[in-house]
Amino acid sequence: MARAAVLLLALLPLAAAAEPAPERQQQLVRMVRQDCGSCHGMRLTGGLGPALTPAALADKPLESMVATIVHGRPGTPMPPWRAMLSEPEARWIAERLAAGFPEEAKAPR
Ligand code: HEC
Repeated sequence: MARAAVLLLALLPLAAAAEPAPERQQQLVRMVRQDCGSCHGMRLTGGLGPALTPAALADKPLESMVATIVHGRPGTPMPPWRAMLSEPEARWIAERLAAGFPEEAKAPR
């Protein structure tokens, strides 16, 4: 069991070039729900920042969302996240937002 987990971790960097590792995905989900949610609404239906629901984002190009997340929007409250996120992670978030963002895992910590 433990050996299988070690093997899996060893393989992850290869498999996960495009996708953050599962533990990192959970961190990202929590970050979006809590940090992004403080402006975009806890349900991501909008607040200080616009709604980030699939309907609201339907006509937004993925590239522009990724750029907005990485660099922020100067002159607006939308901050840059490049200190906290890599570009592939921002892309993963943008793809999930457009598709319907996952809930935080309810597992006890
Ligand atoms: C301090 C408040 C604040 C926080 C925190 C914040 N945003 Fe924003 N965000 C904004 C505002 C305000 C805008 C609208 C900017 C504008 O007027 O163009 C925006 C715009 C966006 C857009 C573009 C939406 C569109 O309709 O074009 C995306 C995508 C986005 N934010 C994602 C995120 C993500 C992901 C996070 C967390 C990693 C986050 N934001 C955190 C305030 C915030």
